[in-house]
Amino acid sequence: MKRLPLLAYAYLLSWNACSSSPMASAAGRVAPGMELYQRHCAVCHGVEGDADTMVAGLLLPRPTAFRDGRFKLVSTTNGQPTEHDLIASLRRGLPGSTMMSYGWLADDDLCALAGEVMRLTRLGRAASIQASATAAGTPLGDDDAAALAARLLTRGVAIDTGGDGPLTAARLDDGRRLYTLHCADCHGDDGRGLPVANEWPADGSWLRPRDFTAGYLRGGSSHHELALRLRAGMPGAHMPAVELSRDETAALTSYVRGMIPTEAADHHVQWRRTVRVPRVPTLAGEPPDCAGLEAVRLPLAPLRWRQDAATEVLLRAAHDGGELVLQLDWADATRDDHVVPGQPMGDGAAVQFATGDAAPLFTMGSPTSPVNVWRWHAYDPAAVAGLMDLLTRPPHASLDSRTPALPAPRSESILLHGPASSSSAAGSGLPLRVSTAWHDGRWTVTFRRALAARGAGEVALVSPPALLFALAVWDGSRDRSPASKSITTWHRLELAP
Ligand code: HEC
Ligand code: HEC
Repeated sequence: MKRLPLLAYAYLLSWNACSSSPMASAAGRVAPGMELYQRHCAVCHGVEGDADTMVAGLLLPRPTAFRDGRFKLVSTTNGQPTEHDLIASLRRGLPGSTMMSYGWLADDDLCALAGEVMRLTRLGRAASIQASATAAGTPLGDDDAAALAARLLTRGVAIDTGGDGPLTAARLDDGRRLYTLHCADCHGDDGRGLPVANEWPADGSWLRPRDFTAGYLRGGSSHHELALRLRAGMPGAHMPAVELSRDETAALTSYVRGMIPTEAADHHVQWRRTVRVPRVPTLAGEPPDCAGLEAVRLPLAPLRWRQDAATEVLLRAAHDGGELVLQLDWADATRDDHVVPGQPMGDGAAVQFATGDAAPLFTMGSPTSPVNVWRWHAYDPAAVAGLMDLLTRPPHASLDSRTPALPAPRSESILLHGPASSSSAAGSGLPLRVSTAWHDGRWTVTFRRALAARGAGEVALVSPPALLFALAVWDGSRDRSPASKSITTWHRLELAP
């Protein structure tokens, strides 16, 4: 990327995201938005907003390249997001992708992050303006390019979505007519989304039209949100805008809402939840009987989107003052706990704990904030080293021919220090007690461990009483490499005294 001189840089920074939050801080200090962005976002969206990172390559959909300036969730006539649009995306996340909710951050931080996203967008536009000007033989100075970029990216008029009004039979008829006319070619008569047309790229870089019945809505299913999607389109996706009157908009949103199951509307949002762990008198039995415990539903997101990925884990938890039990229960139609030639992995599950207060990247941790991972895999082919270690092996790694036919299941507690962490090597962890069962297309995997840490590599579960954790599951017959799995965001585990 071409570096801009200080003047142009100050100009770009002076576009405050939210008036309440000072973007540019005192001379010499990094603006808070930049700091937050580098900590929480750069690993996926890229240090300079180009989304050209190792992690981004593992994800589908790919993280948005802010420098390209094309967003999905916008509320203006020219497709440019407002601060409010960006903050709404941060609060909700984009369900159906690995973009989790950042609603747990303070409002000022969200404002500062929205400002940083806009700054990266303007830098990207300024650089591309300069490149085309140079190619045309009329080079443009940095300040001129920055000013032009800022002008081009000035957001358009806010779209008036109107009210949704009363729901009548005549209106639904009207909605159905408009749907058939404008939408059914892509979303199908039944709203399940038609396969991608021939001329669309085969590499999966664009998503197929949304299946409304599955409820994965990036922006939500209120009348207002749907009306924005129809009227503004999704400029960062292949979803066109349509010209509609207020009445037509209301008729169409009513009709589309009828296809979205009510309970699914916010079903897949990756909000941070607090899981309260009751203290029970005793945890007898192997596994202990968890049937009476409350099941907390935690949504899953596959790293690489596929329609048939597991959507949720039911988590039951209890402790008895000496040990903690975590029971994960999820749907998996195929029981993959024996080695199949050409199938690189079996089924698996993992719980990871942050060792500090701040959530590291959803997987693997970092040198300064390692994660303690409890993992179980139905088998552990010698060839597949470090199952949590996303980046050490290319996707589609095949089985080593020496892999035993009936390998033992593996369960252990390990400490990871980030993508290049060597402590992830198989077999280096502490043993962990795990019981497993597969019935009627569901795995139940029960992890059990003493609250006290057994060594430096383990997180102590006694103090602090609340800590951050995340879950992951692998589907051996569908996830072709350890880098393909379904994950939750970071949640809080709170142990009752
Ligand atoms: C684990 C990777 C990951 C991390 C970390 C992450 N994102 Fe994203 N983000 C994504 C993906 C993937 C998408 C694309 C979703 C889609 O296209 O449906 C996305 C999309 C977005 C969008 C686009 C919304 C739109 O309208 O198109 C914004 C804005 C955004 N992220 C901001 C952030 C910010 C700010 C942070 C840090 C606080 C962050 N993201 C952290 C993966 C990530
Ligand atoms: C050219 C094909 C095409 C047409 C026509 C089309 N859509 Fe879409 N639509 C898409 C694609 C592709 C997506 C998925 C975008 C993504 O996230 O990458 C989508 C996504 C959506 C979403 C999901 C928004 C969210 O928050 O995730 C809604 C709602 C939607 N379309 C409604 C409609 C309606 C109503 C119409 C008719 C007015 C329509 N679409 C017409 C292709 C189309």
